[in-house]
Amino acid sequence: MPGVMLMRYRKRKYFLAGRINLIQRSKIRELFEKASKMENVISLGIGEPDFNTPDVIVEVAKKALDEGYTHYTPNAGIPEVREAISEYYREFYKTDVPSNNIIVTAGAYEATYLAFESLLEKGDDVIIPDPAFVSYVEDAKIAEAGIIRIPLREENGFQIDPDELVDLITKRTRMIVINYPNNPTGAVLSKETVKAIADIAEDYNIYILSDEPYEHFLYDGARHYPMIKYAPDNTVLANSFSKTFAMTGWRLGFAIAPEQIIKDMIKLHAYVIGNVTSFVQVAAITALRDERSWEAVHQMRKTYNERRKLVLKYLKDMPHMDAFEPKGAFYIFARIDPELDMSSEDFANWLLEKAGVVVIPGTAFGKAGEGYVRISYATSRERLIDAMERIRRALSEI
Ligand SMILES: Cc1ncc(COP(=O)(O)O)c(C=O)c1O
Repeated sequence: MPGVMLMRYRKRKYFLAGRINLIQRSKIRELFEKASKMENVISLGIGEPDFNTPDVIVEVAKKALDEGYTHYTPNAGIPEVREAISEYYREFYKTDVPSNNIIVTAGAYEATYLAFESLLEKGDDVIIPDPAFVSYVEDAKIAEAGIIRIPLREENGFQIDPDELVDLITKRTRMIVINYPNNPTGAVLSKETVKAIADIAEDYNIYILSDEPYEHFLYDGARHYPMIKYAPDNTVLANSFSKTFAMTGWRLGFAIAPEQIIKDMIKLHAYVIGNVTSFVQVAAITALRDERSWEAVHQMRKTYNERRKLVLKYLKDMPHMDAFEPKGAFYIFARIDPELDMSSEDFANWLLEKAGVVVIPGTAFGKAGEGYVRISYATSRERLIDAMERIRRALSEI
């Protein structure tokens, strides 16, 4: 009987590898759980595009299935996909990336994980910005690496300070993680900062894991400078189709690195993933080469920019909040008035209860995120207006 089976399951004690207990489940889970039990909640907590994948890409994947792309592919990816990625870097960034320096991965998540596992071990330190996207710290723990945080400050435009970076480097430092355009701050890196980090990595012989999945979401004339162009021998670049082409569910990304590192990453990838889904890879070729998919990216960027301006205007006009003006990604890191005397977490909880709006406490991304909340504008204009009106009303009543 199913009921009996269930009892047995509940009683049994499972002994898990210690490694798995190192991983921390997201601190914001409770907030989302609370929100899921409430009615009429608007979430500005989402970290993914609200757009559907452009039709031209979807059609190609369907056709690929019909054409029999249902088998294993080479571990590193279908050669034509690697070639299309190489061609993209050559044409878009005027930088030469041979196909052998590319591995097709299940999103930037996998690319990042492979980099940590291939490059770090016990006794090595990795420098991770604070605040930063949540997966780096967990990846570092699994790799048993020591974690050193480098604070990002609003007065510096949330850029890494190269002098501070040099001060943090020791004999144990093996890697620095950077991410631009940035999640959660929306900051982009200037060419000078990119070059400075590249030079430091070369001088001190450390790796850079450069996570660049938001490279096409840039505003107010901002530009992207891929790290691979400035420190090719020291960089593992993680990139993804998830954000650029609104393909989060497809699990499609890639890493670029020196050939020897890619070879080692392929070894691990071969035993975990084997290869990225065959017909998904075929769609990648169209995503990169077809003008219609780039037109869709252009439209998404335009829409994100309109929303960014809308939210910024609301934040500027309302009491008790202000915002760092981001030039990239689809997030706004909004400052909470210190006079409210609320931690980021308390503020996010209060906003959920009072206004029915979900935002992410800045501390979910590290201690230095205290005093901020992350607002995602990857949601419709109507919902954004509704959410911002609610926040304004709640704050006006304080
Ligand atoms: C900075 C950053 N890196 C990596 C990822 C993971 O993306 P993917 O879907 O390509 O695995 C995300 C997703 O939110 C992200 O924000």
